Amino acid sequence: MQFIRLGRTGLKVSRLCLGTMTFGWSADETESFAIMNRAFEAGINFFDTADIYSRWIAGNQGGESETIIGKWLKDKPRHELIIATKVRGRMWNGANGEGLHRQHILKAVEDSLRRLQTDYIDLYQTHFPDDTTPLEETLSTLDSLVQSGKVRYIGCSNYPAWLLMKNLWVSDVQRWARFDCLQPHYSLFHRSEFERELAAACLDQGVGVIPYSPLAAGFATGKYTRDNRQPETTRESSGLIQRLINNMQAYDALDLVREIAQTHAVPMAQIALAWQLSKPAVTAPIIGARTISQLEEVLGAVDVKLSAEQLQQLDAATAMF
Ligand SMILES: NC(=O)c1ccc[n+]([C@@H]2O[C@H](COP(=O)([O-])OP(=O)(O)OC[C@H]3O[C@@H](n4cnc5c(N)ncnc54)[C@H](OP(=O)(O)O)[C@@H]3O)[C@@H](O)[C@H]2O)c1
Repeated sequence: MQFIRLGRTGLKVSRLCLGTMTFGWSADETESFAIMNRAFEAGINFFDTADIYSRWIAGNQGGESETIIGKWLKDKPRHELIIATKVRGRMWNGANGEGLHRQHILKAVEDSLRRLQTDYIDLYQTHFPDDTTPLEETLSTLDSLVQSGKVRYIGCSNYPAWLLMKNLWVSDVQRWARFDCLQPHYSLFHRSEFERELAAACLDQGVGVIPYSPLAAGFATGKYTRDNRQPETTRESSGLIQRLINNMQAYDALDLVREIAQTHAVPMAQIALAWQLSKPAVTAPIIGARTISQLEEVLGAVDVKLSAEQLQQLDAATAMF
């Protein structure tokens, strides 16, 4: 495994981050433990979760993913792992059951710590913006968590560039802890949202970048084809999959990914990840695995070196996304 600094911090994270949204949902506890064991054995020290995973499933309350990670962590060297989680989504009933205000964050962080069975969170991220709460209220609360030691670094997810910059400015002016990491949606099949302005802003500001859905929710693995648009999956209702499965330009791009994968003799998923790892702003893609074999298929991505011509071909074939 290779390691890299998280943005301008001195923290070293593995170049692949393990996403755990599937835990307690499409991966049961046994499979989740196997996935974490294999990831850790392969050198991945960076795990991403969220308090709401996986609340959208009927019967789930949220917190299932954090609970599974907490059980797994009990006999692991806690100090060797970088655990990232998120706050913002609805976790309990009532007017304050969601949001980025002080009342919600201070209860949510205690709940996450209890489920994770740890006394600190390495990276605490705002999951998506909350336009009903002043930035100063959110950032001062996060700063107090950093000062108390409950949280070590803070980050944000799903922020547009102007809002990221405004948050950094407020933190700097107030001398509060600032966001050291952004978690954007980014892949070969979803580019412009990140590349238009966020990539340059993160490079300029020394903000680490951990893109989510780097395999376009499974589309980039090649299991979706023109002739089979309903492969075995749990992600059929994803908005991205729905946009891609009838898009012929997406299949043309997949043809190129397949061709390049054949020349390197690696699975297509590794080409999608190697392309992303070549982008200077990217710290570590967050890979999602539902099974241990899916994880096995992507682990080698950090060792794939694409030529300048292959990178240029992939950029050109996916420019419309
Ligand atoms: N901040 C946010 O708003 C946000 C949003 C989404 C995700 N995330 C984070 O990012 C992580 C990754 O997101 P993601 O799951 O969308 O990432 P992804 O890597 O683009 O997609 C992962 C999905 O693709 C399929 N897949 C993966 N490897 C495969 C393989 N080798 N062969 C065939 N299918 C394969 C699996 O779904 P199927 O087998 O069911 O098709 C798997 O669940 C999450 O776990 C979470 O930590 C954050």
